[in-house]
Amino acid sequence: MTKRICQKLEAVYPVCQAQYQAVLLTASGSGAVEAMLSTFSPFDGKTLVLCNGVYGERMVAMLQRQNKPVEALMNDWRSPLCLLQLETRLAHGGITHVAVVHHETTTGRLNDLSAIAAMCLRFGTKLMIDAVSSFGAEWIDFANWQPLAVAATANKCLHSIPGVAFVIAHEQVLQQQKTAATTLYLDLQMYYREQRHGWSPFTQAVQGFMALEAALDEFHQLGGWQARRQTYQHRSEMISAHLATYDIQPLLMPTDSSCILKTYTLPDGIGYDFLHDELKRAGFTIYAGQGQLGGKVFRIAVMGTISDFEMQQLLVQFDKVMEC
Ligand SMILES: Cc1ncc(COP(=O)(O)O)c(C=O)c1O
Repeated sequence: MTKRICQKLEAVYPVCQAQYQAVLLTASGSGAVEAMLSTFSPFDGKTLVLCNGVYGERMVAMLQRQNKPVEALMNDWRSPLCLLQLETRLAHGGITHVAVVHHETTTGRLNDLSAIAAMCLRFGTKLMIDAVSSFGAEWIDFANWQPLAVAATANKCLHSIPGVAFVIAHEQVLQQQKTAATTLYLDLQMYYREQRHGWSPFTQAVQGFMALEAALDEFHQLGGWQARRQTYQHRSEMISAHLATYDIQPLLMPTDSSCILKTYTLPDGIGYDFLHDELKRAGFTIYAGQGQLGGKVFRIAVMGTISDFEMQQLLVQFDKVMEC
Protein backbone atom coordinates (compact mmCIF):
# COMPACT_ATOMS: atom_id res chain seq x y z
CA MET A 1 0.00 0.00 0.00
CA THR A 2 2.87 2.38 0.81
CA LYS A 3 4.37 1.86 -2.64
CA ARG A 4 1.01 2.30 -4.36
CA ILE A 5 0.25 5.54 -2.47
CA CYS A 6 3.68 6.96 -3.30
CA GLN A 7 3.10 6.25 -7.00
CA LYS A 8 -0.37 7.82 -6.89
CA LEU A 9 1.05 10.92 -5.18
CA GLU A 10 3.84 11.24 -7.75
CA ALA A 11 1.19 10.93 -10.49
CA VAL A 12 -0.64 14.07 -9.23
CA TYR A 13 1.95 16.08 -11.17
CA PRO A 14 3.15 13.48 -13.68
CA VAL A 15 6.22 15.46 -14.74
CA CYS A 16 7.69 14.78 -11.31
CA GLN A 17 7.63 11.01 -11.77
CA ALA A 18 10.99 10.81 -13.54
CA GLN A 19 13.14 12.48 -10.87
CA TYR A 20 11.15 12.68 -7.64
CA GLN A 21 10.00 10.24 -4.96
CA ALA A 22 7.32 10.58 -2.30
CA VAL A 23 7.98 9.79 1.35
CA LEU A 24 5.01 9.19 3.69
CA LEU A 25 4.86 10.27 7.32
CA THR A 26 2.37 9.88 10.13
CA ALA A 27 2.04 13.57 10.90
CA SER A 28 0.08 16.72 10.19
CA GLY A 29 1.26 19.14 7.49
CA SER A 30 3.70 20.82 9.90
CA GLY A 31 5.32 17.43 10.48
CA ALA A 32 6.09 17.12 6.76
CA VAL A 33 7.41 20.70 6.59
CA GLU A 34 9.59 20.16 9.66
CA ALA A 35 10.90 16.83 8.30
CA MET A 36 11.77 18.53 4.99
CA LEU A 37 13.66 21.34 6.75
CA SER A 38 15.30 18.96 9.21
CA THR A 39 16.54 16.59 6.49
CA PHE A 40 17.58 19.05 3.79
CA SER A 41 18.34 22.41 5.37
CA PRO A 42 22.10 22.33 5.96
CA PHE A 43 24.34 23.17 8.93
CA ASP A 44 27.16 24.11 6.56
CA GLY A 45 25.02 26.51 4.49
CA LYS A 46 22.22 28.95 5.18
CA THR A 47 18.46 28.80 4.52
CA LEU A 48 16.60 31.95 3.56
CA VAL A 49 12.90 31.78 4.41
CA LEU A 50 10.55 34.03 2.44
CA CYS A 51 7.76 35.19 4.75
CA ASN A 52 4.43 36.82 4.07
CA GLY A 53 2.26 35.02 6.59
CA VAL A 54 2.04 32.66 9.53
CA TYR A 55 3.36 29.58 7.72
CA GLY A 56 6.51 31.22 6.36
CA GLU A 57 7.25 32.52 9.84
CA ARG A 58 6.63 29.03 11.26
CA MET A 59 9.42 27.66 9.03
CA VAL A 60 11.81 30.25 10.53
CA ALA A 61 10.82 29.06 14.02
CA MET A 62 11.38 25.42 12.99
CA LEU A 63 14.88 26.14 11.71
CA GLN A 64 15.72 28.15 14.83
CA ARG A 65 14.65 25.16 16.98
CA GLN A 66 16.92 22.97 14.87
CA ASN A 67 19.82 25.39 15.46
CA LYS A 68 20.35 25.67 11.71
CA PRO A 69 21.70 28.83 10.03
CA VAL A 70 18.58 30.72 8.95
CA GLU A 71 17.63 34.17 7.74
CA ALA A 72 14.13 35.52 7.13
CA LEU A 73 13.06 37.87 4.35
CA MET A 74 10.04 39.53 5.95
CA ASN A 75 7.28 40.95 3.79
CA ASP A 76 4.03 42.64 4.72
CA TRP A 77 1.37 39.91 4.95
CA ARG A 78 -0.79 41.79 2.44
CA SER A 79 1.99 42.09 -0.14
CA PRO A 80 3.56 39.74 -2.67
CA LEU A 81 7.04 38.47 -1.86
CA CYS A 82 9.50 41.10 -3.05
CA LEU A 83 11.54 39.65 -5.92
CA LEU A 84 13.98 42.57 -5.95
CA GLN A 85 14.76 42.02 -2.28
CA LEU A 86 15.26 38.31 -2.97
CA GLU A 87 17.56 38.99 -5.90
CA THR A 88 19.63 41.47 -3.89
CA ARG A 89 19.98 39.01 -1.00
CA LEU A 90 20.93 36.06 -3.22
CA ALA A 91 23.43 38.19 -5.13
CA HIS A 92 25.05 39.17 -1.82
CA GLY A 93 25.98 35.49 -1.31
CA GLY A 94 25.95 32.93 1.50
CA ILE A 95 22.45 31.55 0.88
CA THR A 96 22.43 27.89 -0.16
CA HIS A 97 18.72 27.11 0.30
CA VAL A 98 15.44 29.02 0.02
CA ALA A 99 12.22 27.91 1.78
CA VAL A 100 8.86 29.34 0.75
CA VAL A 101 5.14 28.71 1.17
CA HIS A 102 3.33 28.13 -2.13
CA HIS A 103 -0.17 29.03 -0.96
CA GLU A 104 0.09 31.26 2.12
CA THR A 105 -3.13 30.24 3.84
CA THR A 106 -2.91 33.24 6.17
CA THR A 107 -4.34 35.42 3.39
CA GLY A 108 -5.03 33.00 0.52
CA ARG A 109 -2.13 34.37 -1.51
CA LEU A 110 -0.59 32.16 -4.18
CA ASN A 111 3.06 33.18 -4.12
CA ASP A 112 4.74 33.55 -7.50
CA LEU A 113 6.74 30.33 -7.45
CA SER A 114 7.67 30.51 -11.14
CA ALA A 115 9.58 33.76 -10.59
CA ILE A 116 11.06 32.64 -7.25
CA ALA A 117 12.17 29.27 -8.63
CA ALA A 118 13.73 30.93 -11.69
CA MET A 119 15.68 33.25 -9.39
CA CYS A 120 16.86 30.32 -7.26
CA LEU A 121 17.98 28.42 -10.37
CA ARG A 122 19.87 31.51 -11.59
CA PHE A 123 21.81 31.72 -8.32
CA GLY A 124 22.21 27.95 -7.88
CA THR A 125 20.12 28.02 -4.67
CA LYS A 126 18.10 24.96 -3.67
CA LEU A 127 14.36 25.44 -3.22
CA MET A 128 12.09 23.84 -0.58
CA ILE A 129 8.35 24.42 -0.82
CA ASP A 130 5.55 24.22 1.77
CA ALA A 131 2.67 23.17 -0.47
CA VAL A 132 0.50 21.95 2.42
CA SER A 133 -2.58 23.88 1.30
CA SER A 134 -2.04 23.89 -2.48
CA PHE A 135 -0.99 20.35 -3.39
CA GLY A 136 -3.67 18.86 -5.62
CA ALA A 137 -5.44 22.07 -6.62
CA GLU A 138 -2.78 24.46 -7.92
CA TRP A 139 -0.05 23.85 -10.48
CA ILE A 140 3.32 22.74 -9.08
CA ASP A 141 5.81 22.83 -11.91
CA PHE A 142 8.38 20.21 -10.87
CA ALA A 143 10.04 20.24 -14.31
CA ASN A 144 10.73 23.97 -14.47
CA TRP A 145 10.96 24.94 -10.81
CA GLN A 146 13.25 21.99 -10.00
CA PRO A 147 12.53 22.10 -6.25
CA LEU A 148 14.68 20.08 -3.91
CA ALA A 149 11.55 19.06 -1.99
CA VAL A 150 7.84 19.80 -1.63
CA ALA A 151 5.94 19.12 1.62
CA ALA A 152 2.17 18.56 1.74
CA THR A 153 -0.63 16.78 3.55
CA ALA A 154 -3.46 14.32 2.92
CA ASN A 155 -6.29 16.34 4.42
CA LYS A 156 -6.49 19.52 2.41
CA CYS A 157 -6.88 19.56 -1.40
CA LEU A 158 -6.54 15.77 -1.60
CA HIS A 159 -9.70 15.41 0.56
CA SER A 160 -8.41 12.65 2.85
CA ILE A 161 -8.41 12.55 6.66
CA PRO A 162 -5.78 14.18 8.91
CA GLY A 163 -2.85 12.13 10.15
CA VAL A 164 -0.80 11.46 7.03
CA ALA A 165 1.56 13.93 5.40
CA PHE A 166 4.26 13.54 2.79
CA VAL A 167 7.31 15.07 1.18
CA ILE A 168 8.10 14.68 -2.51
CA ALA A 169 11.83 15.11 -2.87
CA HIS A 170 14.46 14.86 -5.57
CA GLU A 171 15.57 11.23 -5.76
CA GLN A 172 19.26 12.17 -5.67
CA VAL A 173 19.03 13.87 -2.26
CA LEU A 174 16.92 11.08 -0.82
CA GLN A 175 19.53 8.56 -1.84
CA GLN A 176 22.39 10.45 -0.17
CA GLN A 177 23.78 8.90 3.00
CA LYS A 178 24.79 12.27 4.46
CA THR A 179 21.90 13.80 6.37
CA ALA A 180 21.31 17.10 8.15
CA ALA A 181 18.39 15.61 10.09
CA THR A 182 18.32 16.81 13.67
CA THR A 183 15.97 14.05 14.83
CA LEU A 184 15.82 10.36 14.01
CA TYR A 185 12.03 10.41 13.66
CA LEU A 186 12.03 13.13 10.97
CA ASP A 187 14.91 11.79 8.87
CA LEU A 188 13.35 11.47 5.41
CA GLN A 189 16.33 9.65 3.95
CA MET A 190 15.82 6.84 6.45
CA TYR A 191 12.10 6.65 5.61
CA TYR A 192 12.96 6.54 1.92
CA ARG A 193 15.39 3.64 2.34
CA GLU A 194 12.64 1.57 3.98
CA GLN A 195 9.64 2.79 2.00
CA ARG A 196 11.08 2.06 -1.42
CA HIS A 197 10.80 -1.58 -0.39
CA GLY A 198 7.28 -1.09 1.02
CA TRP A 199 8.35 -0.85 4.68
CA SER A 200 8.53 1.94 7.20
CA PRO A 201 10.98 2.62 10.04
CA PHE A 202 8.12 3.44 12.44
CA THR A 203 4.47 2.47 12.97
CA GLN A 204 2.34 4.37 10.48
CA ALA A 205 -1.31 5.47 10.79
CA VAL A 206 -2.53 2.61 8.58
CA GLN A 207 -6.15 3.77 8.69
CA GLY A 208 -5.01 7.18 7.39
CA PHE A 209 -3.03 5.47 4.62
CA MET A 210 -6.14 3.55 3.53
CA ALA A 211 -8.17 6.74 3.46
CA LEU A 212 -5.47 8.53 1.46
CA GLU A 213 -5.33 5.78 -1.13
CA ALA A 214 -9.13 5.94 -1.56
CA ALA A 215 -8.97 9.76 -1.78
CA LEU A 216 -6.22 9.59 -4.41
CA ASP A 217 -8.21 7.11 -6.49
CA GLU A 218 -11.18 9.47 -6.40
CA PHE A 219 -8.91 12.44 -7.14
CA HIS A 220 -7.53 10.79 -10.29
CA GLN A 221 -10.96 9.53 -11.40
CA LEU A 222 -12.43 13.03 -11.10
CA GLY A 223 -9.82 14.59 -13.39
CA GLY A 224 -6.84 15.42 -11.17
CA TRP A 225 -5.64 18.84 -10.03
CA GLN A 226 -7.05 20.72 -13.04
CA ALA A 227 -10.60 19.51 -12.36
CA ARG A 228 -10.22 20.22 -8.65
CA ARG A 229 -8.95 23.70 -9.40
CA GLN A 230 -11.91 24.39 -11.66
CA THR A 231 -14.38 23.22 -9.00
CA TYR A 232 -12.78 25.35 -6.27
CA GLN A 233 -12.54 28.35 -8.57
CA HIS A 234 -16.24 28.11 -9.36
CA ARG A 235 -17.14 27.95 -5.66
CA SER A 236 -14.82 30.84 -4.73
CA GLU A 237 -16.21 33.04 -7.51
CA MET A 238 -19.76 32.29 -6.43
CA ILE A 239 -18.97 33.45 -2.89
CA SER A 240 -17.00 36.54 -3.99
CA ALA A 241 -19.78 37.65 -6.34
CA HIS A 242 -22.40 37.26 -3.61
CA LEU A 243 -20.36 39.07 -0.96
CA ALA A 244 -19.68 41.90 -3.41
CA THR A 245 -23.42 42.68 -3.39
CA TYR A 246 -22.91 43.69 0.27
CA ASP A 247 -19.71 45.53 -0.64
CA ILE A 248 -17.63 42.91 1.20
CA GLN A 249 -14.32 42.96 -0.64
CA PRO A 250 -11.54 40.39 -0.86
CA LEU A 251 -8.27 41.37 0.83
CA LEU A 252 -6.19 40.43 -2.23
CA MET A 253 -6.54 41.02 -5.95
CA PRO A 254 -8.19 38.00 -7.65
CA THR A 255 -5.00 37.45 -9.69
CA ASP A 256 -2.96 37.03 -6.46
CA SER A 257 -5.40 34.65 -4.81
CA SER A 258 -5.55 30.89 -4.82
CA CYS A 259 -8.73 29.06 -5.79
CA ILE A 260 -8.68 27.36 -2.38
CA LEU A 261 -9.22 30.05 0.23
CA LYS A 262 -10.07 33.74 0.16
CA THR A 263 -9.84 36.42 2.80
CA TYR A 264 -12.49 39.14 3.06
CA THR A 265 -12.55 42.37 5.02
CA LEU A 266 -15.20 42.29 7.76
CA PRO A 267 -18.08 44.60 6.92
CA ASP A 268 -18.64 47.66 9.14
CA GLY A 269 -20.66 46.87 12.23
CA ILE A 270 -20.25 43.08 12.03
CA GLY A 271 -17.74 41.44 14.38
CA TYR A 272 -16.01 38.20 13.48
CA ASP A 273 -17.48 36.25 16.40
CA PHE A 274 -21.03 37.18 15.44
CA LEU A 275 -20.51 36.21 11.80
CA HIS A 276 -18.76 32.98 12.74
CA ASP A 277 -21.35 31.94 15.32
CA GLU A 278 -24.34 32.67 13.09
CA LEU A 279 -22.87 30.68 10.20
CA LYS A 280 -21.73 27.91 12.50
CA ARG A 281 -25.25 27.53 13.85
CA ALA A 282 -26.33 26.82 10.26
CA GLY A 283 -23.53 24.28 9.80
CA PHE A 284 -20.88 26.41 8.06
CA THR A 285 -17.43 27.04 9.51
CA ILE A 286 -15.44 30.08 8.48
CA TYR A 287 -11.97 31.04 9.73
CA ALA A 288 -10.74 34.05 11.67
CA GLY A 289 -7.90 36.29 10.53
CA GLN A 290 -4.59 35.13 12.03
CA GLY A 291 -2.10 37.28 13.97
CA GLN A 292 -2.12 40.93 12.90
CA LEU A 293 -5.25 40.31 10.75
CA GLY A 294 -7.29 39.08 13.73
CA GLY A 295 -10.62 40.93 14.08
CA LYS A 296 -10.22 42.62 10.69
CA VAL A 297 -10.93 39.84 8.23
CA PHE A 298 -12.55 36.43 7.81
CA ARG A 299 -11.53 33.56 5.56
CA ILE A 300 -13.55 31.04 3.58
CA ALA A 301 -12.03 27.82 2.26
CA VAL A 302 -13.79 25.73 -0.37
CA MET A 303 -11.92 22.42 -0.13
CA GLY A 304 -13.77 19.15 0.23
CA THR A 305 -16.90 17.56 -1.09
CA ILE A 306 -19.40 20.42 -1.07
CA SER A 307 -22.59 20.19 -3.12
CA ASP A 308 -24.11 23.04 -5.14
CA PHE A 309 -27.05 22.94 -2.74
CA GLU A 310 -24.72 23.49 0.23
CA MET A 311 -23.06 26.38 -1.60
CA GLN A 312 -26.48 27.97 -2.17
CA GLN A 313 -27.34 27.45 1.49
CA LEU A 314 -24.17 29.27 2.54
CA LEU A 315 -25.20 32.30 0.50
CA VAL A 316 -28.71 32.19 1.98
CA GLN A 317 -27.20 32.14 5.47
CA PHE A 318 -25.05 35.12 4.59
CA ASP A 319 -28.17 37.01 3.56
CA LYS A 320 -29.76 36.19 6.91
CA VAL A 321 -26.71 37.42 8.83
CA MET A 322 -26.53 40.62 6.82
CA GLU A 323 -30.24 41.28 7.44
CA CYS A 324 -29.79 40.95 11.23
C1 LIG B 1 0.57 26.54 4.14
C2 LIG B 1 0.44 25.72 5.38
N1 LIG B 1 1.53 25.18 5.91
C3 LIG B 1 1.48 24.43 7.03
C4 LIG B 1 0.28 24.19 7.65
C5 LIG B 1 0.25 23.38 8.91
O1 LIG B 1 -0.46 22.20 8.71
P1 LIG B 1 -0.98 21.35 9.98
O2 LIG B 1 -1.93 22.22 10.73
O3 LIG B 1 -1.64 20.18 9.31
O4 LIG B 1 0.21 20.97 10.78
C6 LIG B 1 -0.89 24.75 7.15
C7 LIG B 1 -2.20 24.54 7.82
O5 LIG B 1 -3.20 25.11 7.49
C8 LIG B 1 -0.81 25.53 5.97
O6 LIG B 1 -1.91 26.07 5.45
